[in-house]
Amino acid sequence: MTDEMFHVKPDLAASAHVNAQRHGLMTNHALNEPDSFWLEQARRLDWFRMPTLAGGGGFEGEVRLSWFSDGTLNASVNCLDRHLPENGDRIALIWQGEAEDDVRHVSFRALHAEVCRLANVLKGLGVRRGDRVATYLPMVVEGVVAMLACARIGAVHVVMFAGFSAAGVANRLRDSGAVLLLTADEGRRGGKRIALKALADEALAILETEGGSPVRQVLVVPVIGTPVPMRAGRDLDYARLVGEAEPDCAPEEMGAEDPLLILYTSGSTGAPKGLLHTTGGYLLWASLTQEIVFDHRPGDVFWCTADLGWVTGHSYVVYGPLSNGGTSLLFEGTPSWPEPGRWWRVIDKHRVRGFYTAPTAIRSLMREPSSVLAASSRDSLRVLGSVGEPINPEAWLWFHEEVGGGRCPLVDSWWQTETGGIMIAPLPGAVAQKPGSATLPLPGVCPVLVGHDGTVLEGATQGEAEGRLCIARSWPGQARTVWGDHARYVQTYFSTYPGLYFSGDGARRDSDGYYWITGRVDDVVNVSGHRIGSAEVEAAIGSHEAVAESAVIGVPHAVKGQSLMAFVILRGGGGGEAGPALEAGIARHVGHMLGRYAVPDRVLLVPDLPKTRSGKIMRRILRKVATGEHEQLGDVSTLADPTVVDALVARLGQ
Ligand code: PRX
Repeated sequence: MTDEMFHVKPDLAASAHVNAQRHGLMTNHALNEPDSFWLEQARRLDWFRMPTLAGGGGFEGEVRLSWFSDGTLNASVNCLDRHLPENGDRIALIWQGEAEDDVRHVSFRALHAEVCRLANVLKGLGVRRGDRVATYLPMVVEGVVAMLACARIGAVHVVMFAGFSAAGVANRLRDSGAVLLLTADEGRRGGKRIALKALADEALAILETEGGSPVRQVLVVPVIGTPVPMRAGRDLDYARLVGEAEPDCAPEEMGAEDPLLILYTSGSTGAPKGLLHTTGGYLLWASLTQEIVFDHRPGDVFWCTADLGWVTGHSYVVYGPLSNGGTSLLFEGTPSWPEPGRWWRVIDKHRVRGFYTAPTAIRSLMREPSSVLAASSRDSLRVLGSVGEPINPEAWLWFHEEVGGGRCPLVDSWWQTETGGIMIAPLPGAVAQKPGSATLPLPGVCPVLVGHDGTVLEGATQGEAEGRLCIARSWPGQARTVWGDHARYVQTYFSTYPGLYFSGDGARRDSDGYYWITGRVDDVVNVSGHRIGSAEVEAAIGSHEAVAESAVIGVPHAVKGQSLMAFVILRGGGGGEAGPALEAGIARHVGHMLGRYAVPDRVLLVPDLPKTRSGKIMRRILRKVATGEHEQLGDVSTLADPTVVDALVARLGQ
């Protein structure tokens, strides 16, 4: 079944931006004359000064990448101003609130005015080019306004997911050195409230007790209208200040390599890293990929369900669709609240054409009674997209056949925070799909598979192989550094396989050259499309007073893809009568330290952990034990004490 081919209907193929012939031409052009190819692509943006240098750079040594370095531009001009002369009244954002009647249609002209007003407020508060501005907001229009207002004045935005805990927010504020924070009185989620201002206060208090917070001001958006305590001299009312500000603000002329944004993401070691994306290359990549992967036209309604706090929200709610003159839908709610079928109703109500979501959502929606889906028509849909984790063929087929009625191409798109935008995906009209495969690289993307010893398996694009997914050449959307720690950037991505960018994923390539992503090969766990480093959760668990040591692994989960399981050794051993209460307390503690999204489904107190003789935890063995495969442990010659495994098996059986 997985090799079944789905050819795109001719009507779409005929009108698609990229047909098979053009795909081939683009790919060859990018391969043979990369400079001329990238400079041609750069013309899709509006520049103050058009670049004459493409650039890139090698993956050896210090890895100093740079694209279009003599060009200057402004990202907000590309998302707003350039649409005003002819399409100022076109809707840029449709905001659908959690309540059915809460809807806002914001035209490009109105969005431009609000962005300029906030940009003026930020300037008035002393925010300068290069300063970092953080946001901790729910899915509201102001979240987009804040990003574009930063871009307008050359400030670097640091968007934080509203599901992060106060400690998680404090870590990101400290690391980025943000001078200003935008938050809301409260957020809404699935009928509940999230006390964002109170959490922000708690985060700032953590920084103050440490001896100083970089944050000088807090702008509070009145999303709900709940009265919240405001600290004089620090906290300011967004609505009042923005309401009084001028609706015009000249854009800063930014160098292509000036920073646009920092976004934190988890890796296999340590605290989350702040990936830095720069203005020209990132914007080009978001814009190009959104157009060609989703066959997007100006004015199309595009709905990417990701939160603004993740890279998918950055590239495919904001920068991609808006730079392309599209209408982006911003939904505050959740898929099945207040009742099942909410997403399908949103699609019908707002005539969504491109719909981009995650396998975990698809798997949970396909469990609902078929009458739920049948109650909507979804006849506006033309292109479906999937991202964030491998999509199993069952979910792929349900999405394609049932949701899309078999008439919409389904683009399974592989990429990462580090890549800025989509890297491997079928272009509608150009590449035939196979359920479960992200298919072929986009023009200009050079994936390679690498064996354990670092050898590249059978050439760059051809031949069946399975290995670790690396990229051999730089592309414009590539993150340029880890904020404040370039050595970590080089170490994390370029030291494993010298000369290559290592993604952390494994993949298989079939005889058609199609890529099948198999998932992370490092200690990163993908829970419902959220990327969580085991080391980060272990550090959170380790900060609980009762804990001596822990190991966190991902185990397969039918809906979430993977779920987290934590094995914990207490100080002084045992758990005794208090065991279950302590396990629950440790789980709560993780929620407090990181946020609910990172709370393990299972916390298990254990007497010991499987370790090598040099003391390294063998997570591979924990994974086998957790999935009931303890009879097939493989090579255990390095295991210091084999009896540990029996104790774990017994504990899991309880
Ligand atoms: O493991 C891959 C998985 O998500 C990781 C990147 O996570 P993040 O930086 O949070 O970005 C998520 C949205 C791009 C990758 O290393 N991943 C992403 N897309 C796919 C995927 N795994 C399989 N198939 C995909 N289409």
